[in-house]
Amino acid sequence: MAQFAKPRGTADILPDQVLEWRAIEDEARRLFATYHYREIRTPIFEHTEVFQRGVGDTTDIVQKEMYTFMDRGDRSLTLRPEGTAGVVRAYVEEKQYGNTNTQKYFYFGPMFRYEKPQAGRFRQFYQYGVEVMGSNDPRVDAEVIGLADHFLRQMGIESFELHLNSVGCPICRASHKQQLIKHLEPVRDQLCKDCQSRFGKNTLRILDCKIDHNHPVVASAPAITDALCADCAHQFNEVKAYLDLMGISYQIDKTMVRGLDYYTQTAFEFVEGSIGAVSTILGGGRYNGLIEMLGGPDLPGIGFAGGVERLLLARSAQGVTKQEPDQIDVLVVAMGDQAIKTSVQILHELRKSGISADADYSAHSLKAQFKLADRLHARYVVLLGEDEVSAHQVSVRNLDTREQELMEQANLVDYLHVRLTNLS
Ligand code: HAM
Repeated sequence: MAQFAKPRGTADILPDQVLEWRAIEDEARRLFATYHYREIRTPIFEHTEVFQRGVGDTTDIVQKEMYTFMDRGDRSLTLRPEGTAGVVRAYVEEKQYGNTNTQKYFYFGPMFRYEKPQAGRFRQFYQYGVEVMGSNDPRVDAEVIGLADHFLRQMGIESFELHLNSVGCPICRASHKQQLIKHLEPVRDQLCKDCQSRFGKNTLRILDCKIDHNHPVVASAPAITDALCADCAHQFNEVKAYLDLMGISYQIDKTMVRGLDYYTQTAFEFVEGSIGAVSTILGGGRYNGLIEMLGGPDLPGIGFAGGVERLLLARSAQGVTKQEPDQIDVLVVAMGDQAIKTSVQILHELRKSGISADADYSAHSLKAQFKLADRLHARYVVLLGEDEVSAHQVSVRNLDTREQELMEQANLVDYLHVRLTNLS
């Protein structure tokens, strides 16, 4: 018989692991609400153009990593490789800017990138993220970075570094680009294939290239941070000053430009040292031209996203893990045909009253049923034999104390309720 394997770069999240996924999502929801962010849910696929325009035609994501397909109506659609472009598309399409207030959103969900899988890098991965639209106030930059820092600490991650940079605006970038082209031109043909094709188009990205950043001429290239216009320099200084006020430590990383084209001014990454090569657990920045680029008004935005899988890796590297215990309150054990019938009714009553209960549907011997009760750490076993059933009674055994009581079936739910409430 044919056996099927999951597609490369995807993962099954089994019940034992789900508690930890939920813990991350629950904590994110609680914390994001504390900062007054509200959840938004957008489609998992968008028109391909949303990402071509939003993320940028010259980026690795758009050029090599998108899951793009034609649907049956001959439209080009793409599974979202990230969340920001879709949220901005929704903000524009739903005219959320009509409300003059700043809008603050958060989201969770699967993202898709055709990347080479390795530890911490998947083709389907999950992000949590926030986006703030409508304000250019540096207090917002500090709030967004502070929220990321707070969230990671709340998740038990302590040993990370916050890398901060400003990638300027189209004005300062244009003059910096000329300086950069002049500086790199003599070594153009020594650069990697990707950087040669980036040359002149996305020249800034060469500074952040994993292959070329050690090249002495690349390493000595003028940093955008040193070429900021007055407005961008002021913004950057304000952001740093607010972070200092909040006691958030950071290091300036002049070569960090991030892999998406929409960034302007503030750019940041949280890097964790112990999870191996793929160590950026969260990244974000300001995108002041994106809303307009996707058909909206000229309004600014900023946000971040982090990968759940990388957060889990970091948690386990730092010894913070949580396993889902496979546990129930009551196992109903039945011996004999009549008892099995009655047990169906009793299980239904127990569950309707809110008591978690199960039966062993695979084993029939008494010993095997009790073994399951032990494995599930059941607090009580409800025991039904032919004698009990014909007398409308049940035996209830406390698995901690091993005490057993015989009682009327009609009293069972109340009896267990009192005891289970006292236990929890
Ligand atoms: P990004 O840096 O491309 O930014 O991704 C953010 C985070 O998603 C990364 O730091 C990493 O934790 C996780 N991640 C990315 N690719 C993978 C992968 N293949 N496997 C596992 N995890 C991955 C963005 O996506 C921007 N939309 C962030 C943003 C929001 N900027 C402004 N607002």
